[in-house]
Amino acid sequence: MSNTLPFLILLIVALSILRVVSLCAPYNPQFNLSLQNRTSISMSDFLDTNVLTVNLSYNLISNLSSDTFSRVILVKSLDLSYNSMTQLQGDLLSPFIQLVCLQIPYNRLEQLPEEFLKNKVALEELDLSHNNLNSIPVKFFHSNLWRLRVVNLSWNNLVVFHPWPLLLRISVDFDLSHNKISTTGNNLGETKFTNSYGSDITVNLQFNNFTQWNDSFYQDLFGVDENVAEKFIFLIPDLRNNNWTCDCNFYKRTSLMHKSFYLYAKTDNLKIKCYNPPHLRDKRVFYDVALNEFVCNLTSDQNCLIQDNPNMNLVYVDCRNRGLTSMPRSLPLPDGRKLSLNFHGNSIRSLDNVEYADKIESLNLSNNALQFIDGNALRRMNNVIKELDLRKNSLKYVPKEINVLPFEKTYVEDNHLSCDCNMTWMADWVNLAPGYRDKSVQCTDVNGNRHVIKEVTEHLLNCTNDTLIAVSVSLGVLLVIIIILVITAKRCPYETKVILYKIFRIHPRDKYIVDNTDHDMDNDAYISYDATDIHVQQWTREVLVRKLEGKKPFHKLFVPERNLGVGPEADLRAEAMEKSRRIIILLSAHYSRSSWCDFECNLAESMSENTGRVLYILYDNKAVQLSGREPWRSRMNERRVLSLDDKLFWSKLRYELPLKSTVKVENV
Ligand SMILES: *[C@@H]1O[C@H](CO)[C@@H](O)[C@H](O)[C@H]1NC(C)=O
Ligand SMILES: *[C@@H]1O[C@H](CO)[C@@H](O)[C@H](O)[C@H]1NC(C)=O
Ligand SMILES: *[C@@H]1O[C@H](CO)[C@@H](O)[C@H](O)[C@H]1NC(C)=O
Ligand SMILES: *[C@@H]1O[C@H](CO)[C@@H](O)[C@H](O)[C@H]1NC(C)=O
Ligand SMILES: *[C@@H]1O[C@H](CO)[C@@H](O)[C@H](O)[C@H]1NC(C)=O
Ligand SMILES: *[C@@H]1O[C@H](CO)[C@@H](O)[C@H](O)[C@H]1NC(C)=O
Ligand SMILES: *[C@@H]1O[C@H](CO)[C@@H](O)[C@H](O)[C@H]1NC(C)=O
Ligand SMILES: *[C@@H]1O[C@H](CO)[C@@H](O)[C@H](O)[C@H]1NC(C)=O
Ligand SMILES: *[C@@H]1O[C@H](CO)[C@@H](O)[C@H](O)[C@H]1NC(C)=O
Ligand SMILES: *[C@@H]1O[C@H](CO)[C@@H](O)[C@H](O)[C@H]1NC(C)=O
Ligand SMILES: *[C@@H]1O[C@H](CO)[C@@H](O)[C@H](O)[C@H]1NC(C)=O
Repeated sequence: MSNTLPFLILLIVALSILRVVSLCAPYNPQFNLSLQNRTSISMSDFLDTNVLTVNLSYNLISNLSSDTFSRVILVKSLDLSYNSMTQLQGDLLSPFIQLVCLQIPYNRLEQLPEEFLKNKVALEELDLSHNNLNSIPVKFFHSNLWRLRVVNLSWNNLVVFHPWPLLLRISVDFDLSHNKISTTGNNLGETKFTNSYGSDITVNLQFNNFTQWNDSFYQDLFGVDENVAEKFIFLIPDLRNNNWTCDCNFYKRTSLMHKSFYLYAKTDNLKIKCYNPPHLRDKRVFYDVALNEFVCNLTSDQNCLIQDNPNMNLVYVDCRNRGLTSMPRSLPLPDGRKLSLNFHGNSIRSLDNVEYADKIESLNLSNNALQFIDGNALRRMNNVIKELDLRKNSLKYVPKEINVLPFEKTYVEDNHLSCDCNMTWMADWVNLAPGYRDKSVQCTDVNGNRHVIKEVTEHLLNCTNDTLIAVSVSLGVLLVIIIILVITAKRCPYETKVILYKIFRIHPRDKYIVDNTDHDMDNDAYISYDATDIHVQQWTREVLVRKLEGKKPFHKLFVPERNLGVGPEADLRAEAMEKSRRIIILLSAHYSRSSWCDFECNLAESMSENTGRVLYILYDNKAVQLSGREPWRSRMNERRVLSLDDKLFWSKLRYELPLKSTVKVENV
């Protein structure tokens, strides 16, 4: 493609030289009805049917019926200029088979018929200038108009430019100047116009209503990605003499142009000029304006100047001297932009952890009333911030997080910094800065003496005092004891606790919520077991109940078979469980065979405050096996599980039972 380019340029130059100036030179014989003050024309006015030129200019015609020209089919040139035409009949031109020139300028047309130029394959010049056209029908221009050379649509009211010239696929002069066009579109059903690449097309869009550049223009005009659009530089419409606003919308196009070799192409079309903002007026967009100058004012509520600068990838916020008492909560921020904030000369009291903190590249808070800095804000600024000005505020302390910024990029002078034991880190921070940075920043100690921060040490401030040492020594000893205890207890922590309880009655138990609640509980434990198994039943009655209820410390158990009252059994069981501080599930081989067991087991799982409340006793070997399988495995997960074979079984069981038995309450 790049090889053919020079050739194409030559071709274009050649074509423009060859272009014939007037295509509407009268063809004889003529029919001249010019300047006759006529208001209408009819078929019968044409006496000679062989005329090639019909001149109806300078009359008062406002309408022509469809059959007006049905007898003069050889006409090559039709001149209707300077009339009062307000509309055109769709088939007015259908008799003409070799129309070359059509002139209807200086009329009052507002619309055009959809297929007015159907079959006009010989048409070379079309002049519709000085009308009131506000749109062009989609099918008005079509690819059969392959000889069309000049299209004059200037001085109309068009508002959108669609790529009509590219549809023609030939060399054409398209004059759209002096309309009201402000944007482009593409309603032609064509998205790729690659055929137009070799064409010699000029499009005059001067003196229109364009103001804001939109990168989608390129897509609309050429149906190509804007990055390859430079290749079409010779097709670029002439967009000069529009009141262009040189703002951020121009940034992308201009920066692409600056990188493009075509920037130096010999075409005037690239010399479009800025109209706004005033300081850029008459500067050429692609040549005279620095990329940094393409900025947009974003809206703001504080009357601050908020300016988007795509070249710096920054949004500048200038809120100097605006009487602010706090930083704005949020700021408009285009995707990916960083912030440069100047809040100099306000009454802001704190540097808050604002929404946009992690986007701030520089922050100027000098001359405010700062007393507090949120360390989290500084932490969030960490990656991005490059400069922080906190001069002339009322700061006594700065949080240590300020370390994220080197001292040379941070200004804390002219504050009321305190020389305190918790700020001695600042000396290192200051000292790390390179030599050029003034390091004379000072602080004031409790006695009112001023010190240069970079020389402040803990010793200077008497921070290392005796109580501190005493405390650290005793802490150290305690730590050693704890470590020894921990190591001992770590081997068998649970057993250690159980033994502690057994011997010293010290109960270092984990606090179970159920024991803290004020519910009046009737029982210490509810025993859920398989009553159909005679061995289990016997063990429960003769061993478990006797041991726990008959020996100190006494506990009160609820054994359903013994304690259940009269009434609906399920409710009674559930109620009894609710009123028990512990649910002991005695798992035996056929536990789940009994429907009550399942009921109780499920209820126990769903009870509130059941951490530590539910515990399992594995009755026999079968139960041990069951405990390794589902559903028991999940149920026992994180529950205390005891086995009858356990050493210290009874101590462990008693350890797990509530400390304050319900029995005592009853005995009183
Ligand atoms: C029609 O007549 C006017 C003057 O009467 C003239 O200026 C114009 O060129 C003529 N048009 C054609 C197509 O000859
Ligand atoms: C057409 O007729 C008008 C009026 O008679 C005359 O002024 C004009 O010159 C004529 N145009 C041509 C091209 O003959
Ligand atoms: C057309 O009307 C104007 C103004 O009324 C008049 O001066 C002129 O003579 C008229 N022309 C013809 C051909 O009648
Ligand atoms: C123009 O003429 C056509 C047919 O002769 C007619 O239907 C139409 O209403 C006319 N328009 C005006 C505005 O007079
Ligand atoms: C289009 O018409 C206007 C006046 O009607 C004229 O000034 C302009 O030169 C014409 N454009 C072309 C390309 O002929
Ligand atoms: C540009 O603005 C000036 C002043 O507002 C106005 O006179 C002129 O018509 C405008 N030009 C265009 C092409 O809109
Ligand atoms: C042309 O642009 C001006 C300023 O942008 C606007 O006020 C006016 O409405 C526009 N005119 C049209 C027809 O779009
Ligand atoms: C650019 O044009 C597109 C499509 O017409 C539109 O969606 C978008 O809002 C325009 N952008 C600007 C900044 O006007
Ligand atoms: C943005 O606003 C400032 C101050 O209000 C103004 O001076 C400047 O011209 C505006 N810039 C643009 C591009 O509108
Ligand atoms: C902060 O803003 C003030 C006022 O505009 C200016 O004098 C000062 O230099 C700024 N600070 C920095 C670090 O640029
Ligand atoms: C430093 O200590 C003082 C009291 O001595 C306290 O008010 C201040 O908040 C502390 N500063 C930091 C950053 O912890």
